[in-house]
Amino acid sequence: MCGIVGYIGKGNAKQAILKGLASLEYRGYDSAGIALMDGKNIFVEKKQGKLENLEKALECLDLNSSLGIGHTRWATHGAPSDKNSHPHLSMDKTFAVVHNGIIENYISLRKILEEKGYIFKSETDTEVVAHLLQENYIENDPKKTLLNVLNKLEGSYALGIVSSHFPEKLICARKNSPLVIGKGINENLIASDVPAILNYTRNVYYLDNDEIGILSKNNIEFYNKNGIEISKESHLIQWSLEQASKNGFDHFMLKEIYEQPNALKATYSRIVKDNKIDFDSIFTRKDIEKYNKIYIVACGTAYHAGLIGKVYFNNISKIEVLSEIASEFRYTNPFVDENTLVIFVSQSGETLDTLEALKEAKNKGATTLAITNVVGSTISREAHKVIYTMAGPEIAVASTKAYTTQVLILYLLSLYIGVNKKNIDIKQYEEFLKEFESIPTKIEEELKNSNIIKKISERLKDKYNGFFIGRGLDYQIALEGCLKMKEITYIHTEAFPSGELKHGSIALIEEGTPVIVLATQKNLIEKTISNIKELKARGAYVITLGNDNNFLKEVSDEFIEIKNTTNYLSVYTAIVPLQLLAYYTSVAKNIDVDKPRNLAKSVTVE
Ligand code: M6R
Repeated sequence: MCGIVGYIGKGNAKQAILKGLASLEYRGYDSAGIALMDGKNIFVEKKQGKLENLEKALECLDLNSSLGIGHTRWATHGAPSDKNSHPHLSMDKTFAVVHNGIIENYISLRKILEEKGYIFKSETDTEVVAHLLQENYIENDPKKTLLNVLNKLEGSYALGIVSSHFPEKLICARKNSPLVIGKGINENLIASDVPAILNYTRNVYYLDNDEIGILSKNNIEFYNKNGIEISKESHLIQWSLEQASKNGFDHFMLKEIYEQPNALKATYSRIVKDNKIDFDSIFTRKDIEKYNKIYIVACGTAYHAGLIGKVYFNNISKIEVLSEIASEFRYTNPFVDENTLVIFVSQSGETLDTLEALKEAKNKGATTLAITNVVGSTISREAHKVIYTMAGPEIAVASTKAYTTQVLILYLLSLYIGVNKKNIDIKQYEEFLKEFESIPTKIEEELKNSNIIKKISERLKDKYNGFFIGRGLDYQIALEGCLKMKEITYIHTEAFPSGELKHGSIALIEEGTPVIVLATQKNLIEKTISNIKELKARGAYVITLGNDNNFLKEVSDEFIEIKNTTNYLSVYTAIVPLQLLAYYTSVAKNIDVDKPRNLAKSVTVE
């Protein structure tokens, strides 16, 4: 999604902004732009396409500016183009604006402004903000000017603004779209995401909804929507830029796949102490007794983690759990009340669909729990309770280590609630914990044996469509393997419960159609073998993932042997080869693995 960077201070604004935008590239974008103050005027350059187009256009710029804003755009209103890129200027060129989010009432605002004689240069919703700033300008008062405009906006925004009326101020505001403010020494920054400011400082403030920030070189002021000055707590970012770099790997995705054993160990050891799951600071005994219903709500990969979590809760801890796609949650009339625990899973903690579902659950009186990877993210702050995955920064668009750590938290949570509700006895509980301890090593061993996967990916790269199938928990794993394949290889794949394929979609199987079969659930192998035979009889090219099993090997065209573990934990040993299969197929197809087309790392529009 769109990225914002703003800089004011002793240094070179152009450099700081370009560096910041580069570190946000992973979020996905289609154009980039910058506005720099030269004391009296605002200089703007914007270019469709990669950031390097903008960098090239700026090569000969001889402007020593110490205040500016920059943006990477992911088109929503108006196609990717130079003119639709941000920053947008007011008609008199005194204000420049960058914006993340959507101004929902922009059509009516545009009409009013056009009637007043404002001429629009783009098709974006954002441009109304620039003209409104001109229209509502109050001399020497950036705060009132901005508040007058914000009062007229509906929708979501993170805004970065510079103005020749206030040549020593960097102005920002937020509603439902994240914005962090970095406090440096003789320099301050704004950004839509932390990596963009880590070159300068680790001290950050998180702007909350309906707050504005006015930054100068040595000072930061915060105001609420009534214009009253407020004080905010600063946070120290615990991770470094190094953790957010490729560290010798060809792609972030590969690095993140390899980081999974450590991410799992870190998440586990943070929660499990002396063979005991410690969520005692999060839940009281009374809380646990109160919950008579649990929902898990999320999008994409996080939703798939939730589906595995649902199986854990239902089967291990005998607690009925419902899982919902966040963007649909509001429309399903969920049975949520004050005795419901609603768990929101989100790597970024910024996904707008998940955030809106969270608000709905809160309105209905539920207790909300966020499972997220980003400390200080909106979802972590909005939820009543929060548990962090210790995955470290995940940069590649395709989620990998966030997924496996989310699944781990849900495993531990189901055991914790299950044992506290006395649905699991202590012996079983300890066994479940013990079983997990060997998982990181098993993944490490699998990672050493990726050659067979590379070979298969060479065969997959020329396919246009395919299927993933699985029974029981294997189906939930198949869903995630399938999403990975789709998003980074552009091969159209669908995941089906093994038994369901024959109820229609088997019509699509023809000579050579790849079908990836998950066969990790030991009690279901016989049935899976029958399904493979049905597929083979119709010409499918069958790639099976399973434990050492001669029958499976014999009936399949390719066999990826995974490490042996329990049925419940096979999600780990199966998903890593599936992540690698998608990764190597993407590389074989020469696709930009970390930034696949049309996608964004955090999806901050509904
Ligand atoms: O940041 P979140 O976990 O809330 O993001 C949810 C999905 O957008 C995300 O998991 C998406 O499906 C990934 N790109 C999949 O790899």
